[in-house]
Amino acid sequence: MTTTALQHPLPDASPLIYGCMGLGGGWNSQPLSEADIDRAQAAVEAALDIGITRFDHADIYTHGKAEACFGALFKRQPALRQRLRLQSKCGIRFADKQGPGRYDLSAAHIERSVEASLQRLGSERIELLLLHRPDPLLEPAEVAEAFARLRAAGKVGQLGVSNMNAAQMQWLASALDAPLAANQLELSLARLDAIEAGTCFNDTQALQRPGSLAWAGTLEYCQRERIPVQAWGALAQGLYSGRAGADAAPAVTRSAALVRELAEQHATAPESIVLAWLMRHPAGIQPVIGTADPVRIRACGDAARIRLSREDWYALYVAARGQALP
Ligand SMILES: NC(=O)c1ccc[n+]([C@@H]2O[C@H](COP(=O)([O-])OP(=O)(O)OC[C@H]3O[C@@H](n4cnc5c(N)ncnc54)[C@H](OP(=O)(O)O)[C@@H]3O)[C@@H](O)[C@H]2O)c1
Repeated sequence: MTTTALQHPLPDASPLIYGCMGLGGGWNSQPLSEADIDRAQAAVEAALDIGITRFDHADIYTHGKAEACFGALFKRQPALRQRLRLQSKCGIRFADKQGPGRYDLSAAHIERSVEASLQRLGSERIELLLLHRPDPLLEPAEVAEAFARLRAAGKVGQLGVSNMNAAQMQWLASALDAPLAANQLELSLARLDAIEAGTCFNDTQALQRPGSLAWAGTLEYCQRERIPVQAWGALAQGLYSGRAGADAAPAVTRSAALVRELAEQHATAPESIVLAWLMRHPAGIQPVIGTADPVRIRACGDAARIRLSREDWYALYVAARGQALP
């Protein structure tokens, strides 16, 4: 593996985000290997090739090894750091001697987590810090103080959230002096909750899809407040772009066939259609793609140039939900 190939200009914005959860060699206690770093480099190169400049981490991914991979890459190629935007997350704690698996958005944990992420990343700054999941014990004023200290120290640029609904975002935002910079939600053809919340709320279908009700008004709130929505799990783990086998549910088989048909029409790969479906939503959704396979990463490269028609968008939506709309 050469270490000189990462030579790309830095575009200002990137419609797609690269998700780093699959890097670092697995959720185990094995130390990071050169092969893990080579694999990360190949993924980063492929992501840069298709115009991705934002990279999504979390303190917990592969127990810190995903961030450590980037630290190693920046050592290989110090100039690389200037061409990327880093985001990371904090707030999930695994079971340990102190307690069970839990969420922790206390000021002390947020600050400790950021320090550890910066150390692993070998970076002085994370451009965007996301609060990974809502913590019932969250106190907005405490989060605001922690963020103000981290921002004043130049360690964090902006604050955003993940997996929070509109009410939780409003509650948190009430204590902040800067707007939330993102909400990262699970959103894909396989995980439609945030969209379903706006379509089947007044119908008995809502009873069959209770998960969606928690998300009522979330996409609308993000649009009104101009908070970018990031979609995690955007490729639906490949379910509609080649992974589904003969035993897949009928809705998955039908949707995957439609994705293939649309890919042919648009002369592109199925991955780009799966992402274009998300990007057609007026919330300006930024898919976070988690494949580490350079071929699959490059297959996502047409997503931003494809605008699905209203009819094709609905055809895929209805196929994926497996039931006509109310
Ligand atoms: N905020 C949160 O709570 C949260 C939670 C989870 C994830 N995330 C972020 O979102 C990113 C993406 O999430 P994700 O990885 O769950 O979603 P994803 O992009 O939908 O799926 C990626 C996974 O699917 C596999 N895959 C994709 N296409 C495939 C195909 N055609 N055949 C076989 N396997 C295929 C990939 O394997 P290969 O690598 O082999 O292609 C990879 O394991 C993560 O990296 C992370 O940054 C955030």
